[in-house]
Amino acid sequence: MDKLRIKGGYALKGEINISGAKNAALPILCAGLLTADTVTLSNVPKLNDIATTLKLLRQLGVRCERASDDLVSITANQLTALEAPYELVKTMRASILVLGPLLARFGEARVSLPGGCAIGQRPVDQHIQGLAALGADIKIEHGFVVAKAKKLKGAVVRTDMVTVTGTENLMMAAVLADGQTILENAAREPEVVDLAELLIKMGARIKGHGTDRIVIDGVSSLHGATHEVIPDRIEAGSFLCAVGAAGGEIVLRHAAPETMGATISKLQEAGLTIKSGKDWIQASMHKRPKAVDFRTHEYPGFATDMQAQLMALNTLAEGTSVIAETIFENRFMHVQELLRLGANIDIDGHTAVVRGVTRLSGATVMATDLRASASLVIAGLAAEGETLVERIYHLDRGYERMEHKLSALGAHIERISS
Ligand code: UD1
Repeated sequence: MDKLRIKGGYALKGEINISGAKNAALPILCAGLLTADTVTLSNVPKLNDIATTLKLLRQLGVRCERASDDLVSITANQLTALEAPYELVKTMRASILVLGPLLARFGEARVSLPGGCAIGQRPVDQHIQGLAALGADIKIEHGFVVAKAKKLKGAVVRTDMVTVTGTENLMMAAVLADGQTILENAAREPEVVDLAELLIKMGARIKGHGTDRIVIDGVSSLHGATHEVIPDRIEAGSFLCAVGAAGGEIVLRHAAPETMGATISKLQEAGLTIKSGKDWIQASMHKRPKAVDFRTHEYPGFATDMQAQLMALNTLAEGTSVIAETIFENRFMHVQELLRLGANIDIDGHTAVVRGVTRLSGATVMATDLRASASLVIAGLAAEGETLVERIYHLDRGYERMEHKLSALGAHIERISS
């Protein structure tokens, strides 16, 4: 398993490009199942989760081509299977996103139940209940969600909680249903909006995306389209936390600061100087950060996917911060590893209390999930001496060449391949 070796204590300086958003690209690739025409996507990041999605689509019989580094085309004109197997779903929960499109277009789908994951239980009951409300006959058989529907019918669906992939799955199902669907308590994340915009280009009739009430008027078929995936707000936010912890001055190009309001304002509160234009962000930090309290929330609140990285910054801050995780029940796995670097953190249920220390010291730590890995890299950049981050396959799921981008900013970081 690959590791990252980081020699901490070097300020970051320079410019990098932000990649396309993983969490927008995943549903958007699955939306290619909704038409027999070709859907061409640009700004698709090169990540393990994207490779897993392409593998899954190919297993279904979809033609997937990567024409260049960031360009992918999907043609679902001759499907050979309507099933997502456990081997793929267990490595990437977002595989559940094929359920809605397969059911809507082919009237049938079998998708393995994802099972547990490191950050919590993460059930998919809302996806299932929503599709049942659209008229699907759904059973759990031998570990699979088995769904059938001759033709889905529009309905009012109110999910019990805000769910991002749940909203995406139901939106993809509803675009080909008979009549009108109203999704209440819908997720407002920019990635949901990006998916809706692609679907509209494909001929779908959707209104209200970006609000908690999405109205979809079903159409009989969709056609091909071209679409550029939005920039990754979590990747950009992670680099901002990195410069906050290590100090220095960086510019992020191809970013989308308008989707990053909560992150940017928390980092400004922590003492970073941040300027931005339409697609760039400049951030500098030349002092010790100030501790900032925050609680995770659905968009436009502070993203749970940024919690670990901002916690890493807080470990070095002046003062004490109180961090509440409200979305996932077990998302403090990075804490034990940050303690190995000398952080001072107490956990009480869903709340972490971080007492800032003046220095972290390098150690061997283990990545436990995607964003936890990023927090360990950020802490390693600021720590004295050498940090080895093990099990970085988690990082490779969601960050495109993170060590290359950090090296370009002057960090002393290298991958050790095993
Ligand atoms: C998506 C993101 C993930 C992010 C999360 C929250 C993708 C591919 N992944 O995950 O990076 O951390 O949003 O912003 O976009 N829940 C249920 N039943 C359901 C669905 C969800 O109980 O059927 C619960 C979950 O366990 C969790 C909460 O609802 O506690 C929110 O989860 P959800 O928004 O669905 O997360 P994902 O879509 O899986």
